Amino acid sequence: MTVPVVSSCEVIAGDLDRQGWSVCPGFLGPAEAARLRERVLEWWEEGQFRRARVGRGPSLRLASEVRTDHVRWLDFTVGGRFAELHDTWFEPLRLAINRRLYLGLFDLEAHATVYPPGSSYARHLDRFRDAAHRTVSVVLYLNEDWSVDQGGQLRLHLPSPDGGATMRDILPEAGTLAAFLSGQIWHEVLPATRDRLSLTGWFCTRA
Ligand code: OGA
Ligand code: MN
Repeated sequence: MTVPVVSSCEVIAGDLDRQGWSVCPGFLGPAEAARLRERVLEWWEEGQFRRARVGRGPSLRLASEVRTDHVRWLDFTVGGRFAELHDTWFEPLRLAINRRLYLGLFDLEAHATVYPPGSSYARHLDRFRDAAHRTVSVVLYLNEDWSVDQGGQLRLHLPSPDGGATMRDILPEAGTLAAFLSGQIWHEVLPATRDRLSLTGWFCTRA
């Protein structure tokens, strides 16, 4: 188990260094992804999610024209329900990225995310004035047997050499991890025809 994780982390760090983004199918195995999905569904049924907001502090607000997903923040503290996920999967990734890109990533903040059918998140950057400490975004998808016609792609808008943009679509298939530089890669979430579950996180520098 440990070896594939470590080598995936090296590949992701190399991609981030070279091009600012990375997609790793099978970052998590099917059993781990299923376990996390069950947990997220439990919370969803218990009503633990809240409509996501935009901004921070005093500027925090609902913005249905921007995003209509629902979130539940994760607790990574030692002994918490997600401590194992953190230590086994995210911590090796943080260390690999720091070794390769010298970003001084220090912490991870993350939430479980549900996009009910038809919901979306308009094109945006993850690093903005109120969240300048967010440096690398990671999204881990938890949806079995996702097909293109169900929508829900993460769409990256990548700079192309001619000065325009190239779009790159990623399916939210269980176990796939997408990572990108929070302040550089514009992206959006397209509406889907079924519930779309994920864990979304940001490796942060010290505020
Ligand atoms: C976000 C985001 C992408 C995704 O929550 O900021 O861009 O694929 N999520 O869920
Ligand atoms: Mn985003």
